[in-house]
Amino acid sequence: MNIIVTETKEQLSEQACSIFEAQVKADPESVLGLATGSTPLGTYEKLIEGYKKGNADYQRVKTLNLDEYVGLGPDHPESYRTFMEENLFGHLNIDAANTYIPDGTADDLEKECLRYEEVIEKVGPPDIQLLGIGENGHIGFNEPGSSFDTPTHIVELAASTREANARFFPSIEDVPKQAVTMGIRSILKSKRIVLIASGERKARAIERLLAGEIDEAFPASALKNHDDVTLIVDRNAYQFVDGKG
Ligand code: GLP
Repeated sequence: MNIIVTETKEQLSEQACSIFEAQVKADPESVLGLATGSTPLGTYEKLIEGYKKGNADYQRVKTLNLDEYVGLGPDHPESYRTFMEENLFGHLNIDAANTYIPDGTADDLEKECLRYEEVIEKVGPPDIQLLGIGENGHIGFNEPGSSFDTPTHIVELAASTREANARFFPSIEDVPKQAVTMGIRSILKSKRIVLIASGERKARAIERLLAGEIDEAFPASALKNHDDVTLIVDRNAYQFVDGKG
C-alpha cells in the first residue's frame, strides 16, 4: 500500500484530485469509481475547480458509484444520487447517461443488485476507485462481518453507521436501515484504489487498517489483497500510526 500523509485535509483533497485528473488526462474515456460521505467533498471541490480551469474534460468519462440507500431516489435530498449531482456531476461536463449509481428504489432489489453487477461488468471495472472509510472500517456499505467474496448486494446498516450518518437527516429515524452496495469482490476489481481518510474520528480505523490483520471483521483490511492501493490520509487520521498525535 502506498501511503501519502498530508498535514491538512485540503492537501489530502489536492492529492486525490491530482490523481483523478491525471487519470482523466491520460485516458479521456476513463471509468472512475466514486464514493459519497463528507471526506470526498473536498476532492470533488478541487475536481470542479480544475475543470473550470480546463485541467480535465469529462465528456467521455464514465462513473460508477459504490452504493445507495434503499428507499431514497433521485428526488430525495439525502440520496447518494442527489449528493453526486449536487457535489460533482452537476458542475462538470459529464454526460448524465454515463453516471451509474445503484437504484435504491427498485421494486425488486435483488434484481437491481444483479443489474448493477452487470453494469460494472459492462462499463467497468473502474480505472481508479475512490473510497472513504467508516469508523468501523466499512467501505462502501460493507459492514464488519461482510464476506470479502460478495458482489453488489443489499445490506442492513450497522447502528453505528446509521448514527454516524444521522447528521445528514432530520433525525436518526429518517436514516434508512438498508442500502445497496457494491460488494468487496466488486470493489477489488478496480484497477487502482485510492482510499482517503481525514480527521481524528478515523484515526483508530487507519491504525487498524495498517497494523491489523486481514479480517472480515474489518472490511477495509480486504484492500491489502489488492496490489495497487494508495492511502491518502491527513495527520489527524494518521496520529496513532506515527505516534505524533
Ligand atoms: C458512508 C458511505 C461510505 C463512506 C462513509 C464515511 O457510510 N457509504 O462510502 O466512506 O460513509 O463517510 P464520511 O466520509 O462522511 O466519514
